[in-house]
Amino acid sequence: MSEPNQLVELLSAKRIAERLETLADEINQHYAGREILLVSILDGAIIFTADLLRLLQVPTQLDCLRISSYGNSTRPASAPRITGSLKSDLQGRHILLVDDILDTGNTMEQATREILALHPESLKTCVFLDKPDRRANGFQADWIGFSIPNEFVVGYGLDYAGRYRELPYLAKLHLTEPS
Ligand code: IMP
Ligand code: MG
Repeated sequence: MSEPNQLVELLSAKRIAERLETLADEINQHYAGREILLVSILDGAIIFTADLLRLLQVPTQLDCLRISSYGNSTRPASAPRITGSLKSDLQGRHILLVDDILDTGNTMEQATREILALHPESLKTCVFLDKPDRRANGFQADWIGFSIPNEFVVGYGLDYAGRYRELPYLAKLHLTEPS
């Protein structure tokens, strides 16, 4: 029988909560006097979005995009596919696009292309994590929670094969189970 996969904590729940306070302060300042449409990329950004949303002090509406690039692996199986679309009219709105992690940048590149085609007034991006070493396209987010080395991480919404999203902290995943 194989050992269970090993999790090594990288960011505690407390450290995440503290960072989100300062991130939200910056976002609140930037959008002072305006209204935001926050577009969250499901499923990974769900926890980050829920926490960030409750720290925003400017009027904010929520919409979600579903984009999938990973099958049951730690490497993208295909180019990102948009599998669920927006319900809102984006024209003339201030869009804050939120994702869990900026890795190769392909997901954010595709999402920003889709959004810009809908003629928003402005578009900014915010990611919980940035893995700059893996970038394939030079994409840079406007706000980043934490920059991390090139390791596969889970927890706080991020999964491996659909697992570990519920962890309140971020962990490095060491695979011991055959995948
Ligand atoms: P990108 O398109 O390569 O930038 O990847 C972005 C998407 O890949 C994210 O929205 C995540 O869902 C997923 N992803 C990338 N790195 C990790 C990781 O370390 N753990 C879990 N999911 C990841
Ligand atoms: Mg994702």
